[in-house]
Amino acid sequence: MNKKLFTLIAVLCLLEGVLSDPCAICTFSASGDDSAGQCTACDSGTCTTSESTIGNDQSVCTVTTKSCPIGTYSANGYDTNGNGAGCTSCNPGTSTPSTQTQGTSQTACSLNACAQGTYSASGFDTDGNGAGCTSCNPGTSTPSTQTQGTGQTACSLNACAQGTYSASGFDTDGHGAGCTSCNPGTSTPSTQTQGTSQTVCSLNACAQGTYSASGFDTDGNGAGCTSCNPGTSTPSTQTQGASQQSCILILKACPAGSYSASSFDSDGNGTGCTLCAINTYSAAGATTCTSCTNNRTSPAGSTDVTACVCPSGSAGPQDGTSVCISSTTSGQKLTVFVSLILALLSLF
Ligand SMILES: *[C@@H]1O[C@H](CO)[C@@H](O)[C@H](O)[C@H]1NC(C)=O
Ligand SMILES: *[C@@H]1O[C@H](CO)[C@@H](O)[C@H](O)[C@H]1NC(C)=O
Repeated sequence: MNKKLFTLIAVLCLLEGVLSDPCAICTFSASGDDSAGQCTACDSGTCTTSESTIGNDQSVCTVTTKSCPIGTYSANGYDTNGNGAGCTSCNPGTSTPSTQTQGTSQTACSLNACAQGTYSASGFDTDGNGAGCTSCNPGTSTPSTQTQGTGQTACSLNACAQGTYSASGFDTDGHGAGCTSCNPGTSTPSTQTQGTSQTVCSLNACAQGTYSASGFDTDGNGAGCTSCNPGTSTPSTQTQGASQQSCILILKACPAGSYSASSFDSDGNGTGCTLCAINTYSAAGATTCTSCTNNRTSPAGSTDVTACVCPSGSAGPQDGTSVCISSTTSGQKLTVFVSLILALLSLF
């Protein structure tokens, strides 16, 4: 009988040992496990030295604990060894939603850093969708991800000016030195241009004789620049202006014996006109030179039709246009005859 009872108790004890769990750290019980019900939790801010702590009252909670700070976690949310090492730090760019976060893996670090250009008090997104971060005003940005701030002053970076660029499109030093200038005669399409080479300077200066608000061609084909009225021009390329008042140069008509597409010189000093080729001529202000007719020839830069003379070995009137008569042996009589007629005509 005693033997049977003993065996039963032994089996029960064994069963109890198998089915019960040891008290977790910061909890205790009379047996050190939960065989008699839940283990008792230490008062907030205190902890036991280990799990399976045996005790009947809070006096076994001898360790003074602190809550794990934001950005760290532990199984019970407390730094169980009291010196900080009991909390695990979140991976860079992540954080916990609060102090005293309970967790046994990085999944406890449910907050992600605010993206560059946004900020929050903690530097982290409180809702997991980005809505917990406030966006910087247009043309400004934060120096990095995870920027802490409660106002737009956190947005300390300003956009690179038009004509300059940086990888982020923002000036990293606050004084403009963080933006690279485009080569002379080129510009960026806008402020805040992102780029790492001069290829982002896609705008070219307006040609002389044209202008635009920025001095650059906004469409890359010249259509972004307005042409000056005929006979006027801008003093240089890249002229900024909103009206024909930018066309302060008064151009001269191309002199006789030369021409240009506009009929004017290009700089007000007579430059930009092309001399008429041999066997052609022009009056002042010409867009093309006129060819001599009837095989007549003229020197380059001729200014009048009368400069067109009969080629050697032939002769004709000085009018610059008439057919020339060969003065070689067979035609000599005719030449004499024509000359006589002309001489007679000139008498009357
Ligand atoms: C025109 O000539 C003047 C005098 O030589 C010179 O000072 C000026 O720069 C010239 N203008 C242009 C547009 O070349
Ligand atoms: C021009 O010269 C060519 C070649 O010498 C000749 O054949 C032609 O008849 C000449 N034309 C006139 C209008 O004299």
